[in-house]
Amino acid sequence: MHSNTPARRRHLRTWIPGKGNAELQPCSNTGIKKKLLDLASNDYLGLSRHPELIKAAQTTMNSEGLGAGGSRLLTGSRPIHEALEKAMAHWLKRERVLLFPSGFQANLAAVMALANRNTTVLADRLIHHSLLIGVKASGAKLQRYAHNDINDLRRLLKLNHNKQTLVITESLFSMEGSSPPLDKISSLCEEYDAKLIVDEAHALGVIGEKSRGLSYGLSGALTLISGTFGKAFGSGGAFLASNASMGDHLLQSSGAFRYTTALAPPLAASALAALNLIQANPQWGEELQERSSRWRERLAKEGWAKPPGNGPILSLIVGSDQTALDLQRQLEDEGLLCIAIRPPTVPEGTSRLRIVLRKDLPDKALEKLVKVLNKK
Ligand SMILES: Cc1ncc(COP(=O)(O)O)c(C=O)c1O
Repeated sequence: MHSNTPARRRHLRTWIPGKGNAELQPCSNTGIKKKLLDLASNDYLGLSRHPELIKAAQTTMNSEGLGAGGSRLLTGSRPIHEALEKAMAHWLKRERVLLFPSGFQANLAAVMALANRNTTVLADRLIHHSLLIGVKASGAKLQRYAHNDINDLRRLLKLNHNKQTLVITESLFSMEGSSPPLDKISSLCEEYDAKLIVDEAHALGVIGEKSRGLSYGLSGALTLISGTFGKAFGSGGAFLASNASMGDHLLQSSGAFRYTTALAPPLAASALAALNLIQANPQWGEELQERSSRWRERLAKEGWAKPPGNGPILSLIVGSDQTALDLQRQLEDEGLLCIAIRPPTVPEGTSRLRIVLRKDLPDKALEKLVKVLNKK
């Protein structure tokens, strides 16, 4: 994400979940009382209010309380942390998984574990802010390659040959909806002896073989996978997955792991419940992907630029801030919640509507969206 652009004033809005699955309602102090269909949050599978997740959190809360009360290396480790780490490692077929309280922290830890001031980081132009902060904190030099552009990455790898190099990408870009050719990136990294971090925050539970993300099955250069439980998993917290020695290195030396209160046990319990549901329902990801391609095709048919990628994030680039905000308001008037994304979150001149699909959307949602967009 971009940070060298002028600040726009932001306003906090507060939301209450509606009774229907995919509904959000603005808090009454905004003056608007109606429920909106959620085409904006990252709760892709609608799991945040799934009874199994709620039950798991409640059971753990009743037995262990709310917070962990300490860091993992002091008094904060609970059996539920170990159970979740083991289950995630098994699911992703990686030797070691370590939990973090948030994806932001996991990303900081990942970059700081693999980069220092002697490292050159080659990062996709559009990686998440947390990864950029990690690069800054590590003291590494940063060079950015064009978004998902394997040729540009190869050019930079050649330029930095024989140097200590780390490549960073996401597998499903949160504001673009696009995905890189990860197998090619991984092979290139191997060829040039570079390490690789893949942030799977938006992909896990949603895309890839049995919804296990796009790095599933990749070997070679892939050094760390970062994921969060705050999106498709409907819970909170995050993890890094790696081989055993990297996992041990993080455990021994990562400040972002050691010096923070452990993930709240009820959140870990609901993340594990989400994992069990995702494993038992491999069709969820497939259905969401089918819906995503239907929506993409339809938007293209209606004359909009076809949103890139094939996951549940559909980015409709409209250019100016005002156009994006106007569309957001018009959609809201018709009961659809779709957020305008503006610089500095995205590059100048590429303000957009970020349309987020979820498993539990009613069928009429697409018709409604198209009707409002076509009024423009
Ligand atoms: C790509 C990406 N990585 C990491 C994060 C951070 O995850 P978390 O919300 O768990 O801190 C986010 C969330 O905003 C994200 O979009």
